[in-house]
Amino acid sequence: MAKTKIATTADVSTDKVLKTNANGQSVLVAKVGDKYCAIANKCPHLGLPMAKGKFENGVVTCPFHGSKFEICTGKNVEWVDSVVGIPLPGIAKKMMAMGKVPTDVASFAVTQEGADLFIDA
Ligand code: FES
Repeated sequence: MAKTKIATTADVSTDKVLKTNANGQSVLVAKVGDKYCAIANKCPHLGLPMAKGKFENGVVTCPFHGSKFEICTGKNVEWVDSVVGIPLPGIAKKMMAMGKVPTDVASFAVTQEGADLFIDA
């Protein structure tokens, strides 16, 4: 792992995620309150990118099947509940989960030096 600059404070906002890169790894960054937070842009359900998902109250929603993750911790708070935004009934959720169990997404501690933001990745 190496300390890598991912953005500047001017690039990051509280109302949307910024997609960036760290050592070839796609990362999502946002500001929650006064804190800068980052997670991998790779949903643990099927490994798809989440950059185009909704971002609300510090939570990123995967645009494919609706799994939700806290951007400051990577914690999974909802697991596979829809298909491209259309809600699924219980049995269909299980089928769409494809045997995968709720899993947190990788998160990164963000450090700040002046206006520059870094993670170890
Ligand atoms: S790929 Fe993200 S919930 Fe399925």
